[in-house]
Parts: sequence; C-alpha cells; structure tokens
Amino acid sequence: MNKSSESPETSLQSLFRNAICHYDIISELRFAILAVDGDGFVFECNPAASRLLGVSKASMLGRALKHLPIDWSWPDLDKHLIKMASSREAVRCDDLDFSRADGSRGILGVTLTPFESNPESGSFLLTAVDVSQRRALEHQLNQAQKLEAVGRLAAGVAHEINTPTQFVGDNLRFLTDAFQDILKLLDAYGSLLDALAATGGHNSRVSELKELSDEVDLDYLVEEVPRSIAQAIDGTSRVAEIVRAMKEFSHPSGAKDYADLNRALEGATTVSRNEWKYVAQLGLELDQSLPKVNCQLGELNQAFLNLIVNAAQAVSERYGTDSGGQGSIVVRSRPLDEKNIEISVADNGIGMSEEVRLRCFEQFFTTKEVGKGTGQGLALVHRVVTGHGGLVHVESRLGEGTTFFVRLPVDHR
Ligand SMILES: Nc1ncnc2c1ncn2[C@@H]1O[C@H](COP(=O)(O)OP(=O)(O)O)[C@@H](O)[C@H]1O
Ligand SMILES: [Mg+2]
Repeated sequence: MNKSSESPETSLQSLFRNAICHYDIISELRFAILAVDGDGFVFECNPAASRLLGVSKASMLGRALKHLPIDWSWPDLDKHLIKMASSREAVRCDDLDFSRADGSRGILGVTLTPFESNPESGSFLLTAVDVSQRRALEHQLNQAQKLEAVGRLAAGVAHEINTPTQFVGDNLRFLTDAFQDILKLLDAYGSLLDALAATGGHNSRVSELKELSDEVDLDYLVEEVPRSIAQAIDGTSRVAEIVRAMKEFSHPSGAKDYADLNRALEGATTVSRNEWKYVAQLGLELDQSLPKVNCQLGELNQAFLNLIVNAAQAVSERYGTDSGGQGSIVVRSRPLDEKNIEISVADNGIGMSEEVRLRCFEQFFTTKEVGKGTGQGLALVHRVVTGHGGLVHVESRLGEGTTFFVRLPVDHR
C-alpha cells in the first residue's frame, strides 16, 4: 500500500529529508529514526532504521507505518500511537519486544514525538534504540541488590537462631545426664521388684507394676531414649555449626586482621552445602600448616563462596542436578613459600571454552540463564583477590573441569 510518489513534498518533509540524510552524524546514529506523515506514511528514515529493524529503506519509504514488515509488538506500539495522537505530546515505550535483522529477539526503547512545528498535522517522528543490553544489566543489578539484602537478612536470622539453638542443646545435654541417673534408679526399682516377687510380698502390686512396665515397653525405652536424645543433640550441633558458619561468614568488612583461612573455607563449604550436596562430593584438603593471612575476612569469604557455587553449578551443568556420585569438588589450601599461600577450588564440571575462559572475570559476563547467573561472581573474586595484593587464575578444559587458583600474600597491608 504505497503512497503515490508524486504527492508534493511539503516543506516539513524536505526539512527532515535534509536533516536525516545529509548529515553523516545522523546516518551513523544507532537510533533508528522514522518520519511519519499525518496519514501514517513513512516519508523518511535513516540507515540505522534499516540496520536495526531489518527492512530496507526502499521498502519503508512511502509505505504506511502499520504495513511495514517489522516484527515488533504491534499492539503495544498501537497503544502508544493512540496515546500520542490524543495527547499531542511525546510518548515513550521503553520495552517494545522486537526481532532484529539477524532474527534474534530484543527490546526496543521507542519514542513517538509529534512534530512541534505542526502538531496538528499528525506527523511524528518514531525513534527507536536497542535497549536489550541495558535492560539485562538493570536486571542483573536488581538481582545483585536482592542477593545482598538476602545475605544481610540471613546474617540476622543466624543471629536469632543462635540463642534458642544453644538452650535446646543445653537442655538436651541435661536430659542425657538426668536420664542416666533415672536409669540407675530404675535399675534399683527393678531389683527391689524382683526381690519382692521372690518373697511373695505385695503380690498384686508387684504384678501390676510388672504389667505396667511391659505395657510401656520399658526395655525399649531404656535403650531408645538415650539414642534419640543423642540424635537430637547431633541435630542441634549441626544447626549450631551452620549458624556459627553463617555468623562468621557474614563477618562485617571492617579493619584487616590475621585470619585462619582453613576455617574460612570450612565455613564457606558449610553455608553453601545446599548448593553442592545434591550434585557433588566435596573434599576439603586443607594444609594444617597454613599461616594466618592478613585480610578482610568478610570479602575473602564471599570470594570463596562464589568459587564453590560456580563449581557446583558447573558440575550440575555436566551431570544434571541429582548426581552426587559423579560430581566432585575439591577445595585445597597450602603454603606456597614463606610469604604466600594458595587456595584452589577444582571441579570436574562442564569446563570452559577458550572464549569463556578469557572473559570469565569480566563484570556481568555470564553464560547462565537470567535468574541463575549475574556475571558478578568472578568479577568480585578478582577485585577482592587483587585488592589483597594477590592473583587469581584459572585452568579449564571444556567438558572436563575447571580449577581456580587464588594466591595471597600472608602479610599484605
Ligand atoms: N567452575 C566453573 N566451571 C565452568 N565455567 C565457569 C566456572 N566458574 C565460572 N564459569 C564461567 O564464568 C562465567 C562467569 O562466572 P561468574 O562471574 O561467577 O558469573 P555467573 O556465575 O553469575 O554466571 C559463568 O557464567 C561461567 O560461564
Ligand atoms: Mg557465579
């Protein structure tokens, strides 16, 4: 439905033709610009419009905007066109779904601006720019802020759980001792009962008691009660251990201090247990002669956690989410020399291609789907380690696994 090419060009149209075509700057713009007349026909567009929308200039010019073969969300655009027509003011649509020239999907930021010199004519400019990347970054930032908030909350919750866990544990230990005493007493009662039975005294009371003891299955209780208390103690010690690790883990980043990094690694594996326990066996090979390291412990904790979570994700990408048997993660520590130590996290996960290996420390670089990856984990590791005067490097084989090495000076100030 092309408009007759003979229709006389208005001064407005020639103005825009000049503006759009004759300036190199405008033709270099990444903004797509379409000028549309009062009847809805496109009378000019810039090269970026063709590049971005995958429609040649020839197929756009003189054609009704609504008949252009552009794959974008027409209902959304229509809504905004109606709004602009009724308000006679510029309207923005920040998230118009569209298909790029190469067929990939993206998001356009579109502005519809009526021509100021002649708003009554109904002509307007449509400008569009691909905002997909910016959107993705915004989403990732949001995600990161949410995680940070959750982290802070978790530290508070750990603190709250600590007190009740302690008194549940104390009470259980009291019950263990008390039950031992009660057992002694029960033993004495038992002997007394046997003696009474032998003499034939208080016959009916004795048999009543014997029946009661059978009814409550006293032998079973004597055996099982200590065992169940022991299990409960074990459970609360585990809760206490997790809570302790979380508290230590959320160590506020204050002044530097000498810290036991073996303990920090144990803490990082404890708080991340849920990330790896279904997908991998995790081994800790910590050299007990590791010297304490002068560091911001809170920052290093976060770096270790990121490496472990990445390893778990790499393993689950290779073997699936429920393959504890095949996946393996090994966390090691060792002194390198007098002044430096090394920590490594090795996995037998999916591994990295050369391209991923070269880019993995880049801020916002991720190969994971939205919601799972933020591309900030390794950027943080890099920042924290170099901030401590250390080095981080990676060795990886695609399809076989990856090892991250973190080297830190013991006495960095
Ligand atoms: N242990 C690993 N094995 C394989 N690839 C990894 C590993 N750790 C990181 N990567 C790759 O590096 C990218 C960046 O990691 P990271 O910065 O932690 O961001 P995210 O985990 O959010 O994607 C990951 O998306 C992944 O492709
Ligand atoms: Mg990560």
